Amino acid sequence: MPRIPLEDNFTDVIGKAQRGYGLSDEALAAKAEVTAAELAALQAGEIIEPALRAVARALHLGGDALVVLARHGWYPEQPIFKRGFAMFNTAFEDMTVNSYLLWDPRSRLAAAFDTGANAQSMIDTIAGENLTLRHIFLTHTHDDHIADLDRLAQATKAEVWASELEPSDYPGAKVFQENAHFHLGELALKTLFTWGHSPGMTTYFVTGLSWPLAVVGDSIFASSMGGSPTHYEAQLRHNKQKILSLRQDTVLACGHGPLTTLKQEKQHNPFFTR
Ligand SMILES: [Fe+2]
Repeated sequence: MPRIPLEDNFTDVIGKAQRGYGLSDEALAAKAEVTAAELAALQAGEIIEPALRAVARALHLGGDALVVLARHGWYPEQPIFKRGFAMFNTAFEDMTVNSYLLWDPRSRLAAAFDTGANAQSMIDTIAGENLTLRHIFLTHTHDDHIADLDRLAQATKAEVWASELEPSDYPGAKVFQENAHFHLGELALKTLFTWGHSPGMTTYFVTGLSWPLAVVGDSIFASSMGGSPTHYEAQLRHNKQKILSLRQDTVLACGHGPLTTLKQEKQHNPFFTR
């Protein structure tokens, strides 16, 4: 798979934090003690380091991480899974979206996490690896993540599951509460409610593969997180309490952008390095 670009650049991160705190440009410039022109230049992508650090402080973002992001100075080291893991990256309108397939190598039982724009490669992998798809777990029900749900569910007869808090109009979808447990052969999976970007955004924490794995949807991205203009602080809090508190070697499988790890995000994600 070609290298997937980071989902957000530094102007996206600033925009998400600014909208999250409900700050107008005027209010942000005043809070950061930068001029309106400096703020406008930053928002247009110009790197003025002192102003960038001041805006980071005003938005409770990590200044060092934001500067590194602006200078394209970091890309997450990609963890390798020997078996039982496949990532799919498909184009949806002008962006790309990720979906994942996990399986127990012994029993060949599998679970899908979202469908992306097009589930054909996933369906091919299920056939090629001789897997039985038991569950389709939804991180959330925004269009890009479930665009091919009908086809995947009909092709595999797998059960569709989502959070009880997430709106879903998929007929027959089953709902879980927080801390629900599922098992697929040797794999164990637990649901964590990390809402904010969507009302029922779910992180699935999976053990039994090469690394502990959190399928986080749009809760968090490599060096960014999903936008949540109306529940920004809840999204930050859930990410800190429920994702960043997982085991240090946990791999994060994000809804957009590359894979990352909890340890790397603690050093490089501007939202969590203030
Ligand atoms: Fe989303």
